Amino acid sequence: MSSFLLELSYLIGSITFVIGLKKLSHPESARQGNLLAAAGMGLAILGTILFHEHNGERIGNIGWIVLAVGIGTVVGWMAAMRVKMTAMPQMVSLFNGMGGACAAIISIVEYHSHPDGDALYLLVVFLGLIIGSVSFSGSMVAFGKLDEKIKDFSAKWLTVFNLALLAVIFIVLATAMVSPETFGPSVLWILLSLSLLYGVLFVMPIGGADMPVVISLLNSFTGMAAAFGGFLYHNQVMLTGGILVGSAGTILTVLMCTAMNRSLLNVIIGSFGGGGGTSAATKGDQTVKEINLTDTAILCSYASKVCIVPGYGLAVAQAQHICHDLEKQLEAKGVEVYYAIHPVAGRMPGHMNVLLAEADVPYPKLVEMEDANGMMNSTDVVIVVGANDVVNPSAKDDPGSPIFGMPVIEVWDAKNIIVMKRSMRSGYAGIENPLFFHAKTKMLFGDAKETLQKLVAEVKMA
Ligand code: TAP
Repeated sequence: MSSFLLELSYLIGSITFVIGLKKLSHPESARQGNLLAAAGMGLAILGTILFHEHNGERIGNIGWIVLAVGIGTVVGWMAAMRVKMTAMPQMVSLFNGMGGACAAIISIVEYHSHPDGDALYLLVVFLGLIIGSVSFSGSMVAFGKLDEKIKDFSAKWLTVFNLALLAVIFIVLATAMVSPETFGPSVLWILLSLSLLYGVLFVMPIGGADMPVVISLLNSFTGMAAAFGGFLYHNQVMLTGGILVGSAGTILTVLMCTAMNRSLLNVIIGSFGGGGGTSAATKGDQTVKEINLTDTAILCSYASKVCIVPGYGLAVAQAQHICHDLEKQLEAKGVEVYYAIHPVAGRMPGHMNVLLAEADVPYPKLVEMEDANGMMNSTDVVIVVGANDVVNPSAKDDPGSPIFGMPVIEVWDAKNIIVMKRSMRSGYAGIENPLFFHAKTKMLFGDAKETLQKLVAEVKMA
């Protein structure tokens, strides 16, 4: 009976993961999907504690388990409640790293429990250890970079070194499989150290605009490592969860690679990126043109079509609600308004979609980059709200730029461009943006929320 109940809790858990993941694909149902999958996970954990048996024995150490779950819940709850929206990517990186660390620890424990396991068993143990450790140390470095505590470090030799390190890891793995006595149990610590080092070194050079790709790759690593853990424990719900996270992360990585015009191999050996560039946008003797609020309000109110391009600054300013107000005010005047969404705008996948959904912006108004670029010619005014790298023309026309080749929103095809930001500072990639000096561009300096609040008032009067 207890094994039936255990299987049932795993089945229900697995089904909730699939339905939850499906619901995550739309902002309106995402919250519900998250809760549903969390409830399924809770049920699977409870099922394991109550009904799991090994050689006729129930799980022991219940007190320790309850204590660990209690501490984890309190820490996780407090972290999630306190984190600022702009710090979410760091938190995701941290949690992702914890998943990788768990998978690596499972492998270490399992190796010691079954040192005489067959070849397939050992392969799964080693792969879980390698991928989990890479994911852990890589995520920690990504966390430090997103939090601006760790600076990019890149050098030509590092790419070669990373390739060599990867090769050494595979050689050690192959040797341990073919002749286990060569390294004995110390193979675990060798693989652990090499993998931790590789995780650090492959993320170190990646910087600037390329971080999103590495973050989704690390997500997929953690999913794969968890799936190996599920295989080791014959635990279907862990296997399903791991496979879903691993495959979703891999699909996202491929989509991100396409969005950034990068190859997956380059990500894995950490041979691209780096901030580079200048930290302030200056361009010879060219000066920027400014516009005031009244003129902006008139320009927008008498336009037929206005496009809003949101970026990280929208998240920093928490200006999504007032941005939606501007859209409604303009529509009341008969102006067609749409949002152009770049896949890596902000600091996490879908960042802009989440922010705008929170402000109840109707989903059909969010136009993806490729479609938005096709609409630019017929757009009268583009308002860039706190975006920088995702509208940088160097990505298209400057082969020397670190972001060259990354598709961007081609706002310069519209008739007028208004850029709303606080200063001439650069964006995440740390590079100059020639858009600010473009003949069609006018700068509207200030905090996005305050500026939009004043602009809405002006539009009402225009
Ligand atoms: P960024 O290029 O980072 O530019 C954001 C701009 O917002 C800054 O130039 C800043 O200029 C402005 N800003 C900041 N606070 C503001 C405020 N309160 N009011 C008004 N403006 C404000 O952002 P983006 O265009 O969204 O591009 C995203 C970048 O992050 C890309 O390089 C991307 O590759 C990278 N990245 C993305 C992700 C994901 S998954 N989305 C993850 C990691 C990294 P001022 O300081 O002058 O105001």
